Amino acid sequence: MTQSLNSMIQTLEWTDKGVRFIDQTKLPTEETYVTCKNYEQVADAIRNMVVRGAPAIGVAAAMGIALGMKNSKAETGGELKQEFDRICEAMSKTRPTAVNLFWAIRRMQQKFELLRVRPIPQLKQALIEEAQRMHAEDIAANQAMGRYGATLMPASGGVLTHCNAGALATCGYGTALGVIRAAIEQGKKINVYADETRPFLQGSRLTAWELMKDGIPTTVISDNMAGSIMKQGKIGAIVVGADRIAANGDVANKIGTYTVAVLAKEHNIPFYVAAPLSTIDFEAPDGSKIPIEQRNEKEVTHIAGKQMTPDGVLIENPAFDVTPAKYVTAIVTERGIARAPYEASLGKLAAERVTTSK
Ligand code: MRU
Repeated sequence: MTQSLNSMIQTLEWTDKGVRFIDQTKLPTEETYVTCKNYEQVADAIRNMVVRGAPAIGVAAAMGIALGMKNSKAETGGELKQEFDRICEAMSKTRPTAVNLFWAIRRMQQKFELLRVRPIPQLKQALIEEAQRMHAEDIAANQAMGRYGATLMPASGGVLTHCNAGALATCGYGTALGVIRAAIEQGKKINVYADETRPFLQGSRLTAWELMKDGIPTTVISDNMAGSIMKQGKIGAIVVGADRIAANGDVANKIGTYTVAVLAKEHNIPFYVAAPLSTIDFEAPDGSKIPIEQRNEKEVTHIAGKQMTPDGVLIENPAFDVTPAKYVTAIVTERGIARAPYEASLGKLAAERVTTSK
């Protein structure tokens, strides 16, 4: 290892005062933090993109549930359960695509069911600890993904990424950016091309911000430059994150990912996806079953508060697209690297996870 890269970005953390987030709507110009004091504020933070990125959304929801339970005035187990269900329901309504949200809620529900006979203070404490455990596990998973994924990165040259799948999208280190960080830590001489990622600009605002903090050479390009940059031979590999991966390996990720994957195929550039097993939805047989979030038109019509389109024009704003598995060279998980056919390879990795977590 030549250097260690994990600038201590605290994307989200449990504190005595509530759940604390770096406010991602303010980056890159302001590094400010908000502390949510109740679960409703946590749900709003997820909905309004104060915290975003599939793994971070999942852990934020778990912490929101734990916070709601901590604040509960319920005196009986029955009352507490009713409140718990209400909070889980509120969390599940925040954002529809990232399956990590539903995975995290289910995990908190399982914990609640397992311990519901315990005295209320003990149950509350166990839920707080479960959310904190998920936070720690996420960072460990990213570091493991980094170790596997780094082997796929070129020894030197440009690596392109889309959106932000870094420390800011997780509890630390990142998935796609974790792979890049690990490759650089191993001595690879990588420079990153970050698509700006319209309309919400996660690439130019967030990916560039956190890579600059680590001193990683980074070039921001507008999304429509990616094809030309690939054609010029500047990109040796592409690595992105995912919000939900179907059982057959179709990948839902930030809008524009599909375009990048098709361009990669045309230019014979490997297209890698890095995501924890909690991002795989085995109940979705293929990408057509993945719900795609439609966000506010204003994200498209306005840039930094300035109107960019004429009044009355029709707008579409899907937040995600689905890249068919045939464009995906490999999927990097915390248990290893999956290759096509994905149904079998992802299933095998997930089964190993069950076995080893016993
Ligand atoms: O709308 P966002 O910013 O939550 O979308 C984020 C992405 O699409 C990321 O690429 C994905 O969640 C993976 S993050 C490790």
